[in-house]
Amino acid sequence: MFLCNAWYVAALDAEVEDRLLPVKVLNERLVLYRRANGEPAALEDACAHRKLPLSLGRIRGDHVECGYHGMTYGADGKCVRIPCSERIPKEARVRSYPIVSRYGLLWVWMGDATLADPSAIFPVDHWGDPEWGVTRGDAMTVHCNYLYMTDNLLDPSHVAWVHPDSFGNAACESTPVEVHANDRGVIASRWMRGVEVAPLYMPFVRFRGSCDRLQHYEVRFPSHALIKAVFVPAGAGNAQAERHERAFVMDSYNFLTPIDDESTRYYWFQLRNVSPSDAEASRLMGESVRSAFEEDRVILNAVQKSFAETRTPHIDIAIDSAPLRFRRRLRQLIASEQPEPARDPT
Ligand SMILES: [Fe+2]
Repeated sequence: MFLCNAWYVAALDAEVEDRLLPVKVLNERLVLYRRANGEPAALEDACAHRKLPLSLGRIRGDHVECGYHGMTYGADGKCVRIPCSERIPKEARVRSYPIVSRYGLLWVWMGDATLADPSAIFPVDHWGDPEWGVTRGDAMTVHCNYLYMTDNLLDPSHVAWVHPDSFGNAACESTPVEVHANDRGVIASRWMRGVEVAPLYMPFVRFRGSCDRLQHYEVRFPSHALIKAVFVPAGAGNAQAERHERAFVMDSYNFLTPIDDESTRYYWFQLRNVSPSDAEASRLMGESVRSAFEEDRVILNAVQKSFAETRTPHIDIAIDSAPLRFRRRLRQLIASEQPEPARDPT
C-alpha cells in the first residue's frame, strides 16, 4: 500500500528531453514528456482506445499521438483528435498527473489533483546557496519494497557494518539512538563523541584529530529522507555545532519512489558547507556516495528476497524503534486515504 496524496520523484529532469519516457510510480504506468515551451507533462501511459502505451507514440507539439490509431491527447489528458471521426466522446481521455520540476528532479502528485500543492515538496535548505557545494544527483533501482529502504534510512547504526570503508567506522557500533516523531515523519539521531572521522568524510573535514559527530537520520512521509552529518572538533558537539567555524556539514537528500511492491527507484543528491565551487570535491563525494549506496543495494535486495523465501518468524531489536514508528504512522496515513466502507442501510 502507498500514500497517494504526496509528491514523488518520477525522473531526473535530464531524463525527459525530447522523448516520451515511460515510468512506473506506485504501480501506475505514466508517460512523461515536455510540451513545446519545455514544461513537463505526465499522462497515464495507456490510450483510452486500445490501451497501447502512449510512450510508444509520438510527441506532436504540446500533444501526444498514440502510435496505433493516431488518437491525440493534450497535457490535461483530454483527447483533441480522433482520426476518421468528427466527434470526440468525453470519455476519450487519459489521466493527467500534476508534475513540477524542482532540484533537477521531476515530481509527480499521485493522488487527488485538486490537493496538489507544490509548496509541499520536500524543502532543501541550502539549495542555491553560493556557500554550499552540490554533488550531481543520481538514481538507481533497488529490488525491494520501499519500507525496507525507509527502515535503512532511519537506522544510523547500519553504517558500522554495511559501510565500514565510507560512512561508518567502529565508533558507530554502540552509541544509542534517540528517536523523535513529529507531524512530518520520524528522526533517529545521536552524537558520537571523541571518535575518529569516518573514511568518506576525511577529505572534507577541516581539522585534525578526533571529532564529535552527529548522525541525523530523518524520514518524512511518504518516503523522503534528510540524512545530516555534522563533524566538529571533539568537545564542540552541541545544538549549535553546525555554526562552528570548523564544522563540516553534509546534507544528504534521499527520495524514494515505490515502483511497485517489490522495487523502488532511489534518487539522491548531497550538499556540503565547504568548497562550494570545487568540481573535484563534488566528483569525489558523488562517486563515494554512489559506491556506498551500492553497498546498501546489495543488502536491501537480499533482505527483500530472504523475507520472501523464509518461513521462520523475524524479531525486532532496539535499533528498530524509529523505523517501526515511521511504518506505524505511515500505515495510519494510508488508511485515512481509503474510502469509508459503505454503511449497511438496515
Ligand atoms: Fe546505508
